[in-house]
Amino acid sequence: MKHYLLLLLTLLTFVSCSANEPELPEQPQPVQPGEGSDYFSGKKVLIAYFSWGGTTRRMAQQIQAITGGDLFEIEPENPYPTSYTPCTEVALEERDTNARPAIKSSVANWDEYDVVFLGGPVWWHTAPMILHTFAESYDFEGKTVVPFTTYASTYRDETLQAIVDMTPDAEHLEGLGLTSGSINGNRILTWIDLLNEQYGSLHPGEATVPMDGVVDTI
Ligand SMILES: Cc1cc2nc3c(=O)[nH]c(=O)nc-3n(C[C@H](O)[C@H](O)[C@H](O)COP(=O)(O)O)c2cc1C
Repeated sequence: MKHYLLLLLTLLTFVSCSANEPELPEQPQPVQPGEGSDYFSGKKVLIAYFSWGGTTRRMAQQIQAITGGDLFEIEPENPYPTSYTPCTEVALEERDTNARPAIKSSVANWDEYDVVFLGGPVWWHTAPMILHTFAESYDFEGKTVVPFTTYASTYRDETLQAIVDMTPDAEHLEGLGLTSGSINGNRILTWIDLLNEQYGSLHPGEATVPMDGVVDTI
């Protein structure tokens, strides 16, 4: 509903400004990685995520397609077991020992990013411990963090909150958790439109109006 209101507002803005303003393209332009974004005042966006089974990767790719940010996959130095039950055992052990599993590689040019989407699956009611390793590896002062998660059925909000709690030096925008079947471009576009409004309120005078439209599901 809010999405349609936003569309209507955007249309009205175009109509009321059309006498003096140059015409804007009607369709959203495809955004290439690293090109910068119509969102968040054109600030540089990083999408950092951990994914064991590929679901969170799919959500991260959708975020990338809309924002034009750079993707960074948080990969463990020691890969997790590829079978489900052994993986759950390792994950539980890591959670219960407050482990910090090592990450294979690091983000290049961290200082250039302003907005950091940080996400992973729900693992044992919370965020995987490797997200803590990531959060503790970088300076989040001055960054805007957007948590995201994917989950089967439970502990979505707790996991989003865990990502907020592990990045206390950052400011935060509203997170989103989706199950595998509910990941689609329009759902994520609606959310990112809202984030852009939130960002505009936190940084008055900086916000831009993004082009609106349908984004295909990857
Ligand atoms: C070790 C482990 C623990 C999990 N714990 C939960 C949980 O507590 N709640 C839940 O809803 N889903 C849980 N799941 C399911 C995943 O959160 C869900 O399938 C997620 O979308 C997987 O993301 P991925 O494919 O990016 O790894 C768990 C899965 C694994 C492997």
